[in-house]
This record gives sequence, C-alpha cells and structure tokens, in this order.
Amino acid sequence: MKYPFVRLRRLREDPRWRSLVTEHHLLLKDLIQPLFIKEGLTRPLAIPSMPGQCQHSEKSLLEEAQRLESLGIPGIILFGIPSRKNLSGREAFSQNGVIQRSVQKIKKACKDLLVITDVCLCEYLSHGHCGHVKRGRIMNDESVRTITRAALSHARAGADAVAPSDMMDGRILAIRRLLDDKDFKHLPVISYAVKYASAFYAPFREAAESAPSFGDRSSYQMNPANAQEALREAQTDLEEGADVLLVKPALGFGDVIRQVKDRFACPVGCFSVSGEYSMIKAAAQNGWLDEKKTVMETHLSMKRAGANFILTYWAKELAEWGLLKNKTIR
Ligand code: PBG
Ligand code: ZN
Repeated sequence: MKYPFVRLRRLREDPRWRSLVTEHHLLLKDLIQPLFIKEGLTRPLAIPSMPGQCQHSEKSLLEEAQRLESLGIPGIILFGIPSRKNLSGREAFSQNGVIQRSVQKIKKACKDLLVITDVCLCEYLSHGHCGHVKRGRIMNDESVRTITRAALSHARAGADAVAPSDMMDGRILAIRRLLDDKDFKHLPVISYAVKYASAFYAPFREAAESAPSFGDRSSYQMNPANAQEALREAQTDLEEGADVLLVKPALGFGDVIRQVKDRFACPVGCFSVSGEYSMIKAAAQNGWLDEKKTVMETHLSMKRAGANFILTYWAKELAEWGLLKNKTIR
C-alpha cells in the first residue's frame, strides 16, 4: 500500500487523534533536579551562566528541597562546594562535610524525596581535577580510594543512592565492596558510566567552582567521537555492580542512550547538562526560542532515545509549568 491510499496526515489533523497515537511522554516521575550547596553561604547566590539556578545556603537548600517535594518531583542530585579545597580532598569524605550535613537534614525533612549524591573530587581538590594528581597525571587507583570513602560517607549520611561521576576505572567495584562490607548492601550505585569530555559542562564548572586549573579532563572522560567505547564502559560498570547507568551529556548523545539501552537490560538515565540548559535559556531570554516548547522537545528526545529518567535543571520549572499532567503539548 502506498499513496494515494496511505496518508500519514490523517492522524495529524485532529488533536484527539494526535494525542491518542503519541508514542512517548515526559512525566514528572522522570525528573531529577540537580542542586548546588555551598558551604558557608548565608543566602543563595545566583549562578550568572545558569539563569534561574543558584548555589544554595544550607537553609535555602532545605526550603528548595521541600518545594520540589511538594511539586511531586521524585528526587534531587546534590553537588557540594566546600569552603576550602586542598590536595588531600579530605573534605569529600568528612562526616561533617557540607554534603553529608545537607543530606542528613533533607532526609529528615523530606521523606518522599529521593536524595542522590554526586560523588567526585573535583569540587574538593585544589587543582579541580576529578582525581589525585602526581607529576601532571591523574592517578587512578589512589583516586578510587578517596572516592570510595566519599561514597561511604554519603551513605552514612542517609543518601538514597550514590552517583560516582569521576570516570576512574574500577571505582564501581570498589564502592560496591565497601558499601556491602559496611551494611549498605541495599544502597543503589548509579554510575556515570558513559561520561564524555564535553564542552557543555562549562557553566557547571562555574556553578561548582570545579574547573581544572591545568589541562582538561580528556585523560579520564570519554572522547565525544566514540560510541562503541560507551558500550564497554557500560558493560564494565554493570559487571562491577552498578544498578543504573547514566549517559552524559544528553542532547546530542541520543544514539548512545539508545545503544546502551538496547544492548543491556538495565535502567538508563541521562544528564541534561549545564550547557544544554544555558544555551536554551540564553536563546529564550533573547526571544529566539520558545523555552517551554524547546524544553519539551529536547526532553522528549531523551525519552525517545530510551532514557528511563532525566537529570535536568528544568525539573522544577517543568513541574511548575504544569505541562506534564497533560502528558503532551501537541
Ligand atoms: C563532576 C561533574 C561534572 C558534571 C557533573 N559532575 C563536571 C565535569 O565533569 O567537569 C557536569 C554537570 C553539568 O554540566 O551540568 N565530576
Ligand atoms: Zn569531578
């Protein structure tokens, strides 16, 4: 059968038909909101390159978490900025650190909110790399030891899951072993398994004050030219015990999300990163793009690619816009 008998436009004319045959939906339950907490702040501080996002004080973070919970957003992922950085990264696993204290408080106040913690060292080490540096090299196994201790401290603070984002080899196994050993067998590890060395992280580095002071992250994050390698990253992390895999960035990496999803029978999330946010915000502020429509479209593309859920700076706004109850905008 073909034209003139086949006419795909028949189901596009009436909005009720369009709605009935919609294949993919963006739902509130798909969204995790990233939040920044900076030690020592007395009031929230706007992040200029990410309009609408801020570095929170302990108080404003708690209020924001409560607001998100009341909007029905299922979870948050926390990034901590300590007041001092050094070469040991000790603050990353201090039980009294900014993240550990915040997790404790939020878990007490917001019983319905999943609290995930990003586990990395770049916010804590003075040079801003995700691992320890020796003679200009990022040291894998030494870094894994510190990262593992950080993950345990987050678990002890009450996190619902830990999400290592450092891209060191073997860290999932090390974290899984230590968590199991310390009675956290039940705690999921969400691995940033497929994390590219992306130019789209630039606004985040302003937000988290974590830009590397020399070189870049290409010796540990993936080359954006590679897709097969993503499957190897996914496989190793699953073998090491990862419960959920993340692909990051999201926009422009739909092929990778799809391949990971098809190849492995595991949950896959994606991180719509800071640059994706800033880019669309900037265009919207200039009146060049319709923000709501653009955001629905990019986020639907992530669902279509196969993501089970999306870490996105728009989680709160998407909830406030009220578009997701309707399930579709067209
Ligand atoms: C830190 C980390 C980064 C992001 C999440 N965790 C930055 C980086 O690797 O430089 C990026 C998130 C974003 O851009 O929104 N390891
Ligand atoms: Zn890092």
